[in-house]
Amino acid sequence: MLTYQNGRLQVDGLSAERLAETLGTPVFLFSESTLKGNYAALARGLSVAGEPATIRYCAKTNNEPAILSHLAAWGSEALVSHPAEAELALRCGFSADRLAYQRPVLLPEDLRAVIRMGITLLHASDLADVELIEKAACDLDRRVRVSLRVRTEGFGTRLSPLGFLARRLGLARRDLVQVAARVKQSDRLTLSGINAYIGTQQESVDRYRALVRELVRIGLRLAGEMDLPLEEINIGGGIPSPQVGRMRIGRLWRRFKDDVSCQAPLHSLEEYAREIARSYREAADRLSPRPRLVAELGRSVIGSAAVLLTRVRAIRGRWAFVDASRHFLPESPLLFCRRVLPATEPRPGHPQRFYHLSGATLDTLDVLGVRRRLPALRVGDLLVLCDAGAYSVSRATRYAGLLPAVCLVAGDGSWREIRRAEGLSELTGTVGMDAPPGAGT
Ligand SMILES: Cc1ncc(COP(=O)(O)O)c(C=O)c1O
Repeated sequence: MLTYQNGRLQVDGLSAERLAETLGTPVFLFSESTLKGNYAALARGLSVAGEPATIRYCAKTNNEPAILSHLAAWGSEALVSHPAEAELALRCGFSADRLAYQRPVLLPEDLRAVIRMGITLLHASDLADVELIEKAACDLDRRVRVSLRVRTEGFGTRLSPLGFLARRLGLARRDLVQVAARVKQSDRLTLSGINAYIGTQQESVDRYRALVRELVRIGLRLAGEMDLPLEEINIGGGIPSPQVGRMRIGRLWRRFKDDVSCQAPLHSLEEYAREIARSYREAADRLSPRPRLVAELGRSVIGSAAVLLTRVRAIRGRWAFVDASRHFLPESPLLFCRRVLPATEPRPGHPQRFYHLSGATLDTLDVLGVRRRLPALRVGDLLVLCDAGAYSVSRATRYAGLLPAVCLVAGDGSWREIRRAEGLSELTGTVGMDAPPGAGT
């Protein structure tokens, strides 16, 4: 997606500088060919599992309609997290049988809405969820499939500060068996599968190996003791994007020198997915029939398919103030380190300096980078913040500003705006007034 040609940065063959001049900054640029390449690499890697493995794209990662439409056309399924997102996915070309619905707590009105849309695969994290799903299915005279969420303690999260947060979601092993029995009793429900999520940007494939073994053990128990064979085993998301470095204590010194491996791709997506699929194939051989492997991927599909173009607007000491904001890339720059590239190629041997990158709002936490090693910057310089596709546009807020435009660059070098930059109408559009202030004057 990103190359230097004659010292100038190109995005899929288009000059980053020219795009910035035409579109203005800040602006998100998505690369159709990178998105397609990521999806295809992950699908190829997962196919080693033996039967066609399923990518169920996690739509909340980035639910731009243009992105969803492409993924639907390439054969992806989608995990949706809200009735409106479900409706959007349908409009973007996903058929209802390629959608699954999940929320941490299910609500009766949402369930009725998504079941009415024709979605038949629903995730449950609790007995109460199962009862609600059954009630909604009865009320609408439908049959639905249930996937039970397994709590992920013990897959590397136990010692992590995030471990205790993960423990509030999903069923402990002993409860899962009871809830599965409850599903079995129901003439409205079928137990379709089990699912888990071990957290995003999992740089070690060993955690997946442990997860896969555990999910297969649960599958064996459900099939053997309860005659509940599973259609699918869903390992969740978390496959890491190759261009984001996740901070760890052991990397602190390298991070301090801005020498983290995120400056180069960390791994091949295909190889990473293949490793998971291999361990699944070995473990799941004991299950007959063998459930299909499902991966609910977000970041690995979309993260590296986008960049955020931003200009330096002021330099004050070590701080370079850019016109983008952390409110468009909300993940902490201390926890996730992404590549930052200048639009002009740094010449070998040319002095570099450490800069902190400040966002454009007066939010003290509006910091996009700390101690980033860059060539000497000047006001007006263009910077490219890489791996800006995941949890960015979909989580962006217009705090002290407006959201930037989003463009999709096609493989043939053309581009189109898929979301225009916000204007005043976005600040007034949903206000409950007859007319926004100043209208008609
Ligand atoms: C249940 C579930 N599945 C999948 C994902 C996607 O994860 P990732 O973007 O790390 O692949 C998420 C993200 O939060 C999630 O909550």
